[in-house]
Amino acid sequence: MSRKKIVAGNWKMNLNLFEGKQLVADVLQKSLSLAEGTEVVIAPPFTQLELAATQLKDTPGYLLGAQNCHQEASGAYTGEVSAAMLKSVGVTYVILGHSERRQYFGEDETLLAKKVNAALANDLKVIFCVGEPLEVRDANGQNELVHQQIVGGLFHLDLAQFKNVVIAYEPVWAIGTGRTASTEQAQEMHAYIRSVIADKYGAETAEDTSILYGGSCKPSNAAELFACPDVDGGLIGGASLVAADFAGIIEASK
Ligand code: G3P
Repeated sequence: MSRKKIVAGNWKMNLNLFEGKQLVADVLQKSLSLAEGTEVVIAPPFTQLELAATQLKDTPGYLLGAQNCHQEASGAYTGEVSAAMLKSVGVTYVILGHSERRQYFGEDETLLAKKVNAALANDLKVIFCVGEPLEVRDANGQNELVHQQIVGGLFHLDLAQFKNVVIAYEPVWAIGTGRTASTEQAQEMHAYIRSVIADKYGAETAEDTSILYGGSCKPSNAAELFACPDVDGGLIGGASLVAADFAGIIEASK
């Protein structure tokens, strides 16, 4: 099976219900003939999920994502949302391990492994985020950190489980900064991630795993990033909030 190209939009904490409805409508209005095997994932805040699901339901290739889920099935966790709840409103993918959740909510590999388990147990696919802060990159420690993130968060999975995981490499120093990783930096890390996966699960599974780039991916740089042999699409933040920009990035994925 050849690996999928995926363009995922992480809206983060942005847009009210009406603004979000309009954005989804605008993206679909610009919806492009997707190259065979390309998926577009729209990951709005929880408040938007059910409405977005109705807007996406008749648009092949456009799937609904969530930005997080709790690790428990249910219970006294005020303010939290479970994987089963996400599944019930039509979510396909859940983003886990985003650097902002690691930074602001103390999420580490032990907790993330539990969240991954909860997502997979509810037939959700996982977009698992890894990436280094600037000080680690400056010390050339990025491979060691990303290796630790992948092993700690994912390598408890068996082969069948892992096949439902997409990796997103998001250098923290590129997120929201306009300082995009170079194609050489992106390709080098993506190839490294693929080698780490191959060592654990074998070359075929590694080849079939989609590895997305995230961090100031824009219409102006998406084509050159996606042309890298080990870059299989993008996890898009700011540009996913502008229909024309998100559509331009989808176009670049062709
Ligand atoms: O999850 C994607 C996000 O972290 C990237 O943000 O705004 O740099 O595209 P941005």
